Amino acid sequence: MDSAAMGRDLEKVLLSDDQIQDRLAELATEIAEAYEGKDVLLVGVLKGAIMVMADLMRHLPFSAPVDWMAVSSYGSGTKSSGVVRILKDLDADISGRHVLIVEDIVDSGLTLSWIRANLESRQPASVEICTLLRKPEAAKVQIDCRWVGFDIPNEFVVGYGLDYAEQYRGLRDIGTLAPHVYS
Ligand code: PRP
Repeated sequence: MDSAAMGRDLEKVLLSDDQIQDRLAELATEIAEAYEGKDVLLVGVLKGAIMVMADLMRHLPFSAPVDWMAVSSYGSGTKSSGVVRILKDLDADISGRHVLIVEDIVDSGLTLSWIRANLESRQPASVEICTLLRKPEAAKVQIDCRWVGFDIPNEFVVGYGLDYAEQYRGLRDIGTLAPHVYS
């Protein structure tokens, strides 16, 4: 879906499709250098990471297997609590393997902090994180993300995999919603 199709529901575009693709191409080059001579397993966290995974993979100059986790955060609906339940675990055994977690957004950092600790307990060779977006002002825990696409303000964003009430994930750009959508 293009931004124009959102009509009045879209307040502003924060990052355009072109900006996102250009940045993912840069990240893919850096990731390829870092894993030269090594096999890496890409791990996506459903559902938000579907777009960034699909596009990052296509920018990568090598083939890598992909696996997925789905998690649910206990808490008050929109806010992450840091207590995470696995809804779908990885299919793969990651012991001895290089794992790259691919995420759409690090907000409070609580979800990814838990996932990283969980994966590290499985004796992988390494665990690194690539996130398209990060909100430094929202951080509740510090997370070492090796690759970050964009640091963004602490605003609620949708598009490119990110949803509001399961809508707008298919928007090509990333933007903020007009206030009337929430009310
Ligand atoms: C989003 C995002 C991260 C998490 C980040 O997922 O994909 O997993 O929130 O938030 P945090 O840093 O505050 O923990 P969400 O729970 O919205 O699920 P979804 O990917 O299915 O939309």
